[in-house]
Amino acid sequence: MPGDKADVVMFGPKPIIEDVLSKAPGLQLHKTWAAPDHDAYVARIAPTVRGIAAAGGHGRIDGAFMSRFPKLEIVSSFGVGYDHIDAKWAGEHGIVVTNTPDVLNEEVADTALGLLLCTVRHLPQAERYLRAGNWPKHGDYQLTPSLRDRTVGIVGMGRIGKAIARRLDAMQVPVVYHARRPTDVAYRHYPNLVDMARDAGVLIVITPGGAATKNLVNAEVLEALGPDGILINVARGSVVDEAALVKALQDKTILSAGLDVFVDEPNVPAELMAMENVVLLPHVGSASEPTRRAMDTLVADNIIAWFAGKGPLTPVPETPVRK
Ligand code: 8YV
Repeated sequence: MPGDKADVVMFGPKPIIEDVLSKAPGLQLHKTWAAPDHDAYVARIAPTVRGIAAAGGHGRIDGAFMSRFPKLEIVSSFGVGYDHIDAKWAGEHGIVVTNTPDVLNEEVADTALGLLLCTVRHLPQAERYLRAGNWPKHGDYQLTPSLRDRTVGIVGMGRIGKAIARRLDAMQVPVVYHARRPTDVAYRHYPNLVDMARDAGVLIVITPGGAATKNLVNAEVLEALGPDGILINVARGSVVDEAALVKALQDKTILSAGLDVFVDEPNVPAELMAMENVVLLPHVGSASEPTRRAMDTLVADNIIAWFAGKGPLTPVPETPVRK
């Protein structure tokens, strides 16, 4: 009978989520991108929509956006980061927000280590050298900096930060960290990021994005990191003052950078593209087939659990519901 099922909307294609949700008996899935007149379609379904599977095609999900759906109960978001959602507003209006934590920890930590090694040891540059036929013509690739003589300062010691630190332990690289509060780890905690940048040879940024961390890594931090210092960012572009970073690289205030994230993705500043001493990745931190499958599944499972009356599986801290 129409009306018996909970209306759930998606704004962009995601085959696994679509497949799971469209087969769930108690749900009616609406795909806005498939409608010829997108806005008219959204306006038509909005009064009865109770769930959003937010996995692309929607932009920022703020109070104005959520207000269009007066019966909205849950926003199930893809990714561990949910800085594109006003979760506080949602919480204040009784709307549950979920994300996809934990299932990507090891994958993102692997990527961070790969990016770190590529940046310190110039692996992409060395490969380009070989492919260009330079080895037989010009001899060995230049000697590079090393991870051996560095302490790594992790900015953010959450679940992924800890997974990165464990890998560095195995590589016998000393780890320190900056977080607002000390956490349950034995590494040295720096309450002040500038102090840590002064003592560390590498900063790895893996802290949530959003207003609280906007431009946390600024010109002063980069200056403290110094001319041998390396910056790795696998968090959000917003955490680093991108203009200050470009200038610091141009002026050799720091040595190099490895970046998986940017302020205006998928647009990467032309200045960075032109530099040889940076390694740039197109936000691939969690982007392996199995990890993305696990993330997709968790987006769908949160919706299914909620409408089965079992509560959300992985609510964000701002959400009114607790596990
Ligand atoms: C996703 C991520 O690529 O989980 C996150 O927060 O950054 C990535 O895993 C991103 O959420 C896609 O929008």
